[in-house]
Amino acid sequence: MNNATPQQVVVMTGATGGFGECTLKDIAAAPGTRVIIGARGNDRIVPPGVEVLGLDLASLASVRDFANTVITMLGDECIDILILNAGIHGSNAKQRSAEGFGLTFAVNHLAHYLLARLLLPKMADHGRLVITSSNMHDPPIKRIAPKILDLHEWAHPTENGSGTGIRSYAASKLCNLMTALSFARQNEVKARQIDVIAFNPGLTDGASGRDASILQKVFVKLLTRTLFPLIGLFRPEFVMNTPEHSGRMLADVSLGKIRPPPNRIYISLVKGQPTYPDPSELAQRQDAQDQLWRESATMVGIG
Ligand SMILES: NC(=O)c1ccc[n+]([C@@H]2O[C@H](COP(=O)([O-])OP(=O)(O)OC[C@H]3O[C@@H](n4cnc5c(N)ncnc54)[C@H](OP(=O)(O)O)[C@@H]3O)[C@@H](O)[C@H]2O)c1
Repeated sequence: MNNATPQQVVVMTGATGGFGECTLKDIAAAPGTRVIIGARGNDRIVPPGVEVLGLDLASLASVRDFANTVITMLGDECIDILILNAGIHGSNAKQRSAEGFGLTFAVNHLAHYLLARLLLPKMADHGRLVITSSNMHDPPIKRIAPKILDLHEWAHPTENGSGTGIRSYAASKLCNLMTALSFARQNEVKARQIDVIAFNPGLTDGASGRDASILQKVFVKLLTRTLFPLIGLFRPEFVMNTPEHSGRMLADVSLGKIRPPPNRIYISLVKGQPTYPDPSELAQRQDAQDQLWRESATMVGIG
């Protein structure tokens, strides 16, 4: 703990790699902040004072354990800022979570949906929930992004072949954004004035998740060093950000230093700067948001 009487409590996933590691450094350095992160393995190197709890998002049982431990260890304290940033960059149809769901859908969406539902009652009034999404959810930006809600296929993937991984990723990031939009519409969230934000860091160098194969890592590195700088000349949304920059922006968003205009919750970095675009047409559809909310609840066993 940084301080005997912390002013704010931050709980975060995805703080041990990529730009989330940079976010963690900035948040841990903020005065009067108690930071708890969920991470795979207890041997993680983190800034002084940061508390590390075991969490494997590929297991809903682990998510429940993590949430219970956080609630117990906080006692009377509440969570001021909940940052759900962890993610994998796609998986093939055979890769499954502990409960048998498609791995990308399970890690990126289901686990964070459950975690947010379990921790919402522990959040402080006027708190902030930040969920990392991606502009890859949006068909005009990424052609293969979903145009329909194909929950059964995402939860129990059957298709394989080229493009399966990136399609599972785009679908999971759509679910992240729709989940944020649904949370923002909940009566409890509105009554308690909890801010909900969906954050797109934009293309950010250093994506090196532990689960990626060597081939994937080499491919991503090659793309980020060669093709994307060229594409970025014509498509500003593909201009590459450094992990330090995206990490600082996520910290600023989480700490309330960057806020979207009233009635907007989606912050998307373009050329490193915050913009506030409309979510995709599908993401904005309330019937689709409600369906995702309902069916996700059933899948995680709280519906
Ligand atoms: N990089 C980009 O261009 C980009 C663009 C748009 C959106 N995003 C989103 O931004 C977020 C971070 O991306 P990144 O590129 O920084 O990713 P990254 O370098 O691959 O880091 C991912 C983080 O998620 C954690 N994680 C992965 N699987 C987990 C699991 N099963 N249980 C617990 N933690 C797990 C990793 O933990 P370990 O340390 O254990 O691996 C790591 O801390 C993701 O949500 C991603 O979808 C990234």
